[in-house]
Amino acid sequence: MKTISVNLPGRSYPIYIGTELLGNAKLFEPHIRNKKVLVVTNSTIEPLYARPVVDAISSVADVDTFVIPDGEIHKNLDTISLIFDHMIGTACDRNTTVVALGGGVVGDISGFVAACYQRGVPFIQIPTTLLAQVDSSVGGKTGVNHKLGKNMIGAFYQPQCVIADTNTLNSLPDRELKAGLAEIIKYGAIRDAAFFSWLESEIGSLLDRNPESLAHAIERSCQNKSEVVEEDEREAGMRAILNFGHTFGHAIETWLGYETWLHGEAVAAGMVIAADLSAKLDLLDQTESNRIKQLIEKTGLPTRPPTGMKSKDFLELMKLDKKVQSGKMRLILLTKIGKAVISSEFSHAELEHVLNSSTAD
Ligand code: NAD
Ligand code: GLY
Repeated sequence: MKTISVNLPGRSYPIYIGTELLGNAKLFEPHIRNKKVLVVTNSTIEPLYARPVVDAISSVADVDTFVIPDGEIHKNLDTISLIFDHMIGTACDRNTTVVALGGGVVGDISGFVAACYQRGVPFIQIPTTLLAQVDSSVGGKTGVNHKLGKNMIGAFYQPQCVIADTNTLNSLPDRELKAGLAEIIKYGAIRDAAFFSWLESEIGSLLDRNPESLAHAIERSCQNKSEVVEEDEREAGMRAILNFGHTFGHAIETWLGYETWLHGEAVAAGMVIAADLSAKLDLLDQTESNRIKQLIEKTGLPTRPPTGMKSKDFLELMKLDKKVQSGKMRLILLTKIGKAVISSEFSHAELEHVLNSSTAD
């Protein structure tokens, strides 16, 4: 097992990465303060992975399980409300630990529940998708979508620990694996050129699920993420680079009504647009922009927005992006592979031009 620390004042925590971790009671014990635990999972993951987790926690606490419906479309306040009803109805108190067992959707929902329930209860992340193991379970962003905008309601709330059991990836559909690779490519693009080159040469073995390659990719990603979060936990500045491709990606997800495309797929297409814009502005060499597109293509991820989505749709939806400050749009752009900047130094015409060419039939 490998442990990566996220060091934050008063709320540091470990990320455990390895195999056979779900049923390891010793891992849970130091992170459960009291005798009551609520495992939140979904209807797909519960039959696959709840048993070992519940058994392990049972040796240190009383465990209850709450199963939510599967899907991004349920990442909303209605689901939050169902969980609160259950928690209040079963007399969960301030020391009840909420355990998120699942992908990013379960993690974001459960984290927000933990942040709000009685003004905050302890929280553990057990990510079971590649995307959740490399990104969403780390760093404390929690929340839900609104029909008008992605992740519009939420809180920063750090977990007690993250337990990433890579064995869970064995049951993950290929499409979900690729969606996780999108966020892994992101880290290389924004701050780790050597990792990006490694990904270019190892993408085949990652797609073949070579365990060593996957473990390396997860560790490198968590290391990158924890360094960014340590520097800027609440996104006062540089943390925003983790949103490379996301402003465009979130617009795609909202336009599609949080159905059809996976988050990682939308981010992949978004990264290509962001790289294109960086090249158009002469910030990034065209060859480097091409390398990003080629790696995304080789991964089998989309490099263009969904059919029918137009530049005006992007521009309308992007107004709601959380990086907009005083009405000014800010985007994450690249100056080279491995170096991202937060910029509002582009004209409406330049943005529209790039969106027009990426949405052209
Ligand atoms: P997801 O949670 O919807 O999981 C994808 C699918 O895989 C679901 O159907 C799920 O039930 C299933 N699944 C999960 N684990 C499985 C397993 N081991 N075997 C088989 N099936 C499994 O999607 P995701 O890609 O994990 O997460 C996407 C979400 O994460 C989005 O809502 C996105 O906004 C959010 N996100 C949050 C952050 C953050 O910092 N909080 C970062 C990135 C993404
Ligand atoms: N996924 C973006 C962030 O954690 O900041």
